[in-house]
Amino acid sequence: DHGGFELKDILRDHLTEKGHEIKDLGTNTADSVDYPDYAKLCADEVVAKNVDFGILVCGTGVGISIAANKVDGIRCGLCPSPEIAALVKQHNNANMIALGGRFTDVETAKKIVDSYMSAEFEGGRHQGRIDKMMALENA
Ligand code: RB5
Repeated sequence: DHGGFELKDILRDHLTEKGHEIKDLGTNTADSVDYPDYAKLCADEVVAKNVDFGILVCGTGVGISIAANKVDGIRCGLCPSPEIAALVKQHNNANMIALGGRFTDVETAKKIVDSYMSAEFEGGRHQGRIDKMMALENA
């Protein structure tokens, strides 16, 4: 949203430079918008498998991650550090991550997305927990 678009642009350019194809869903100005709208736009792309994963940025990362997690099939982890970004993939097999644009410095943010993207889901005991978590969608 408007609290995250500057960092979003930086991360888009960072990943583009590394050769990744990016689908930038906005927003692109500081004009006030509603983060659930952008969470839904991106989550729908992930669920439809039009993209491999989603990266969300709002002011704190909190609102937009909560909103994304309301969409069936989404596991979005709020990532304040590269270490947590790796664990979010290794243990939670998150298909979206969220960052706080107002609370994450640029170099840390780049490391966060790199860390998430290079980590591998560990499976095993974590898969059973994910199965239980996803079953909550129908509870
Ligand atoms: C917008 O001002 C702000 O509330 C939003 O970016 C986010 O931090 C919400 O969780």
